Amino acid sequence: MTDVTTQLKQALSSALTGAFGEDFADADPLLNPAGNPKFGDYQANLAMPLGKKLGRPPREVAQAVVDQLEVGSSSGGGVIEKVEIAGPGFINLHLSSAALAESAHAMLGDARLGVAPIDNKQTVVVDYSSPNVAKEMHVGHLRSTVIGDAIARVLAFHGHDVIRQNHLGDWGTQFGMLIEHLDEAGQIEQESLGDLTKLYKESKARFDAEPEFAERAKQRVVALQGGDEKTLAAWRKLVAQSQDYFASVYDRMGVLLEPGDIRGESFYNDKLPGVVDRLKADGALRVSQGAGVVPVEGFKDKDGNALPMIVQKSDGGYLYATTDLAAALFRADELDADRLVYVVGAPQRQHFDMLFATLRRYGWVKDGVRLDFVPFGQVLGEDGRIFRTRSGDTVRLIDLIDEAESRAVAVCKEKNPELTGEEAENVGRAVGLGALKYADLSSDRIKDYRFSWQRMLALDGNTAPYLINAYVRVHGIFRKGGIDFDAFTSGHVQVEDSNEKALVLKLMQFGPTVESVADSLEPHRLCNYLYELASGFHKFFEHCPVLRSDVPDDVRRGRLALCKLVALTLRQGLELLGIEVVERM
Ligand code: ARG
Repeated sequence: MTDVTTQLKQALSSALTGAFGEDFADADPLLNPAGNPKFGDYQANLAMPLGKKLGRPPREVAQAVVDQLEVGSSSGGGVIEKVEIAGPGFINLHLSSAALAESAHAMLGDARLGVAPIDNKQTVVVDYSSPNVAKEMHVGHLRSTVIGDAIARVLAFHGHDVIRQNHLGDWGTQFGMLIEHLDEAGQIEQESLGDLTKLYKESKARFDAEPEFAERAKQRVVALQGGDEKTLAAWRKLVAQSQDYFASVYDRMGVLLEPGDIRGESFYNDKLPGVVDRLKADGALRVSQGAGVVPVEGFKDKDGNALPMIVQKSDGGYLYATTDLAAALFRADELDADRLVYVVGAPQRQHFDMLFATLRRYGWVKDGVRLDFVPFGQVLGEDGRIFRTRSGDTVRLIDLIDEAESRAVAVCKEKNPELTGEEAENVGRAVGLGALKYADLSSDRIKDYRFSWQRMLALDGNTAPYLINAYVRVHGIFRKGGIDFDAFTSGHVQVEDSNEKALVLKLMQFGPTVESVADSLEPHRLCNYLYELASGFHKFFEHCPVLRSDVPDDVRRGRLALCKLVALTLRQGLELLGIEVVERM
């Protein structure tokens, strides 16, 4: 099946060829849904740039295209019913109701809702979550995990081969103090190492306060790097315990990351000398105050001095950047990636800019490989300052999940006394987690956002509960009518009423929206879309009765089909965001 947008694009492209010849077959028709039904359903804005190129008035260009378009349902079920040229040369397209109805019907009959997998699929590596061993996952990791998961889901649905990579911070000098402290406390042999965050705090405090301990911790780093068995065993235990913890968080969050996706910093250890050698061979390496650095054009520190990327410390140790160079090589060469995506907080922008510049400058990744840094802003408290607990500590991710769920359970119990205790628990958990994720996904990721329980759990507005509620409402209609939602196939969508038409046009935008998120890696576009879809549904339902006794049978079935299509689209869209729906709440 081809959806209406594709049909329109095809019609415009053959009109373009008809008017101006084969060279114009691939010209972008600049097709968009019209902002106002007055101007038709879609608008094609190609005449302006094309006029410039051809040196002809845009209106004339528009007319030449329009003359070639097949218009009118008389021409055998064509998609365009009417066309007008407006203003400087906008082509306003009115679609035929029959074609729209047909498109909606086909979408309903397709498990992928009319979104065909992309033809030229790519291998995309998505680096996300990437927390640090022995450190608590905080709200920053919430963002990376939630946004990264949505992006991975969207790319996979779009048809790409997605390789998720959890670039765990599992190596570095901090392990010296952790292991030294464990050993001195006689805990190194223990089965469980206890609370790792506590361990981190304690050893950090000693490291800062006791110079002798700091010295021994440094010796430990040497022992770890030298492969001392006892030290290595302790390191492995620390990593394993952290991984178990992260796995439990991912499981609670319902994210797709699995233990097999972990390829931590330590994985690249034995590749780091090779990275530095290669930089040397490429003439990229300089020595500055004993350290190995790579100058990167265009980067300056705050005093205006050239700022290089440091890849080797004067004591021979390697750095975060060295590991990321190794990881990028591994992903491009071994994993054969066409696109590298990094979902990491905005403060690391400079690191990634320098990394990408170096990879390009020395041809370490092929020109065709796309590099995407996907930054996000900070989570702020309701007071607009950095989000903290009342006692001033950083907020633990797991505590947020607990609170989201318990708050939503309470709301469910209060709002719907018909739910049994167990149902309310299940529904509340899904809605609470969904609300937490959605709050993070629905704002433009680059902006900071204010964390507000009240706003994210509200049944009104651009929230998960609002979207889930629209899904619940459809199920409510089917339940009330005694119709089995899954089995229902007997309706053919009709497009008679303007609210039906608006809703169908919105449904047709699902595929293009998925496509735009796969390109821009901005999940909030999908959120906005789903919000508009849900609002359109509520409006439709206000004006177009479904079950009322005076509604003719075929109209009722057509509207039920439309309701079902809306529900399926909401469910699929939310699934792409990593959010589960419920059938009642
Ligand atoms: N572990 C790092 C942090 O918590 C994030 C790693 C991001 N990925 C990367 N390839 N550098 O800040």
